Amino acid sequence: MSILLSPSILSADFARLEAHAREAIQAGADWLHVDVMDGHFVPNITFGPLAVRALRPLRDETGALLDVHLMVAEPDRYVGAFVDAGSDIVTVHVEACEDPCAVIRQIQSRGAKAGITLNPSTDLDAIRDILPLVDMVTVMSVHPGFAGQSYVSGSTERIRELRLWLDGLGSNAHLEVDGSIKPHNAREAADAGATVLVAGSAVFRGSVAANVAAFRAALENRDAAST
Ligand code: DX5
Ligand code: ZN
Repeated sequence: MSILLSPSILSADFARLEAHAREAIQAGADWLHVDVMDGHFVPNITFGPLAVRALRPLRDETGALLDVHLMVAEPDRYVGAFVDAGSDIVTVHVEACEDPCAVIRQIQSRGAKAGITLNPSTDLDAIRDILPLVDMVTVMSVHPGFAGQSYVSGSTERIRELRLWLDGLGSNAHLEVDGSIKPHNAREAADAGATVLVAGSAVFRGSVAANVAAFRAALENRDAAST
C-alpha cells in the first residue's frame, strides 16, 4: 500500500490558506491535516469548524480528505459540529475523553470516520480496548500543541507495537504518525507500519513542491516494493 501524506495546515500561510493547501495537493499530498487546538487541552488556539467548512470545496474539487485532529477538552461537545462542517476523519485524544468508545461511535454515527490518538507520555494500553472500533490510530510523535518540535524518541517503537496490535485484530484502520515527520524519518515511520504521515513545517516551509517531492523520493522504493 502506498503511504499517504497529510500536510498539517497549521504550518501553512493563514493569509492564503486555501491557495497554500492547494499547492500541497497539486504537489502530490493526499489529505489535509487540520490541527484544532482549544487553549485548554493544549495551550494554543487554532481553528474551529468554520475553517473546515471553508476548506470543504477544495476537498470536493481535489478529493483530498480533511483529516481533523481535535486537541480539545470534552471533544464529545464538538465532534458533531466538526463532522457537519465537512470533516472526513475526526480524531480525538484518549486523554480528553471520559468515554472514548462513546465519542468514537458518536463521530461514526454522525457520518465521518473516527480516529483515536494519544500523547507520547500516555501508555499504549490506554487505547487497546478502543482499537477494534476505530478507523484510524494516530501516534503523536511530539507533545501536542505546536508545530516545528523535535521527534520524541521511542515513537517509532510505538508505531511498530500498534502495527502488531492492529494486524493481530485483522484491522485495516490507518496508522498515522503526527509530529516532526521529515523526509529523513518518513521511511523509518513507514517501515514501522505507519500508513499516513502528517507533516507541517516540512511541507509548508519553503518550496511546497520540492518538499512534497522530497517525501515521495524518501518513500519511493518502499511504495514501489509494497504495491
Ligand atoms: C502538533 C500537531 C502536529 C504538528 C505537525 O500538536 O498535532 O500536526 O502541527 O507539525 P510538524 O510537522 O512541524 O511537527
Ligand atoms: Zn496534528
